[in-house]
Amino acid sequence: MRYTKQKVIFLSSILVAILAFSSNKNAASKSNLDKAKVEKLSDADLKYREYMQTISRQLGVTCDYCHDVSNFKAPTKIAYQTAKQHMEIVKWLNLKGFQGPKAPVADCYMCHRGAAVPEYKEKVKISQD
Ligand code: HEC
Ligand code: HEC
Repeated sequence: MRYTKQKVIFLSSILVAILAFSSNKNAASKSNLDKAKVEKLSDADLKYREYMQTISRQLGVTCDYCHDVSNFKAPTKIAYQTAKQHMEIVKWLNLKGFQGPKAPVADCYMCHRGAAVPEYKEKVKISQD
């Protein structure tokens, strides 16, 4: 009887070990799956994501400041629409705004300096008398 009890304990500890191992294996294969998904992003997608991270940092905001994150294509938010116009400003600045070999490369930071609404009005008081 004592012998059987030990045997049961022995067998159940093997079972626990097997379960632990297989759930580990599941976790490992799941993370491989995630990795495979990440690796499937094209170079263009990765570059675009990097661009999105850059503009977020330069404005000091997260993705949802501009995006309805259930649909990244949706132009619902005003900030998204403004951002789209300001992307055009940046494009224009780089095309026509700054010329010559020492020309700075325009980006959002040039005006925004890490803030969504940059300080853009000159801080002077002109006396009206
Ligand atoms: C300052 C506003 C702003 C922020 C912050 C921002 N985005 Fe965007 N995002 C845009 C705009 C505007 C477009 C559309 C650009 C265009 O049409 O050329 C866009 C496009 C995209 C697209 C392409 C959607 C499509 O048309 O297929 C994806 C994906 C995306 N953003 C993801 C992100 C992620 C992820 C983040 C956070 C890391 C982020 N965005 C942060 C404004 C923003
Ligand atoms: C030439 C200067 C300039 C550049 C470059 C610029 N912005 Fe702006 N941006 C402004 C000013 C000034 C405001 C505040 C006034 C306004 O909302 O129009 C602003 C406001 C915004 C707002 C609205 C914020 C809010 O909550 O009201 C968003 C979004 C934005 N910019 C996104 C961008 C992105 C993204 C870029 C880079 C692709 C960019 N801007 C580049 C000057 C600039």
